[in-house]
Amino acid sequence: MTFVLQDRCIRRKWPYPTLKIKGGAGCKTLRNAEKVWAFLMRHEATRRDMLLCVGGGSISDLGGFAASTYKRGMRFGIVPTTLLSMADASIGGKTGIDWKGYKNSVGTFHKLAKTIIDMSYLQTLPQREFLSGMAEVIKTGMLSGKEDYYAALRALEDGAISEVLVLRIRAIKESIVRRDPKEKNIRKWLNLGHTVGHALEELALQQGRDLPHGYAVMQGLVAALYLSVVKRGLDREVLRVMTHLMIEHYGKIGFTCRDYDKLIALMRQDKKNVGGEIRFVLLRAIGEPEYDCTASEEEIREAMEYLFSL
Ligand SMILES: NC(=O)c1ccc[n+]([C@@H]2O[C@H](COP(=O)([O-])OP(=O)(O)OC[C@H]3O[C@@H](n4cnc5c(N)ncnc54)[C@H](O)[C@@H]3O)[C@@H](O)[C@H]2O)c1
Repeated sequence: MTFVLQDRCIRRKWPYPTLKIKGGAGCKTLRNAEKVWAFLMRHEATRRDMLLCVGGGSISDLGGFAASTYKRGMRFGIVPTTLLSMADASIGGKTGIDWKGYKNSVGTFHKLAKTIIDMSYLQTLPQREFLSGMAEVIKTGMLSGKEDYYAALRALEDGAISEVLVLRIRAIKESIVRRDPKEKNIRKWLNLGHTVGHALEELALQQGRDLPHGYAVMQGLVAALYLSVVKRGLDREVLRVMTHLMIEHYGKIGFTCRDYDKLIALMRQDKKNVGGEIRFVLLRAIGEPEYDCTASEEEIREAMEYLFSL
């Protein structure tokens, strides 16, 4: 039997018992996970049943977490309705909720039973959410190589993305995840831009500010490219282009130098760190990422100074 957890803003009707929850920032709570457990319990769902999550990454992270813990794990599927989820969050089986002000601080890896890509959901997607998704599309393009990177930049400039490119970006992430499902080595590449990005997102969460995931990632990408130029000799032109695109499309997100200490403290708590060192993914060139790169606090401050001076 199938059960559906759907973002309240999606109008689609299913011939299955459906629980609607308001998606977006602030929905990945323990309270909402309890609502999903209670819904499943009320309908006597068993672990052989499936929870289909219809919405963006917030709904699939929440639903995936609830499904993976309900009766020690029932099957779950995703119908992504945002670009970010189509291109990124619906791949790889990471689930989680935000707890005590920390993003994804409680979560699981849970195998996905099904994903349905339906581009028509993007017709109602606000521009802000399109841009948020484009940050992950660009990130994955950067990891892959020049052809995918330029295709991603063209989609950003056009303000629209083709199904071909969405499927290509999915295939790149799927291939990385298949080779390293538990993020022991190359899956770490996918964290490009996320060291600074997550800290910004977390600080926004703690301050009750609404900052879409991709906007934080875009800032994080620029910071990572700055460090890549300084520490790995990346062509400065890549940084220049991305800086320009960030200013033109994403604008300022309202953090300043006064936030350094809090942001560095948040980076120190990142799940990806080892031995108290802050870890980054850096690029030697487009298509040549390197994971587990360290940077001193001085270097990180310099990168943040660059970011906040824009
Ligand atoms: N599990 C993973 O691997 C992974 C990867 C990246 C991000 N994430 C998580 O994903 C979350 C962000 O997800 P997201 O960016 O997909 O968006 P979201 O789920 O936060 O939704 C953003 C907004 O768009 C609305 N919306 C969703 N679909 C819509 C549609 N078709 N038309 C109009 N409005 C729509 C939602 O109601 C919400 O207001 C974050 O919590 C992030 O941590 C998870």
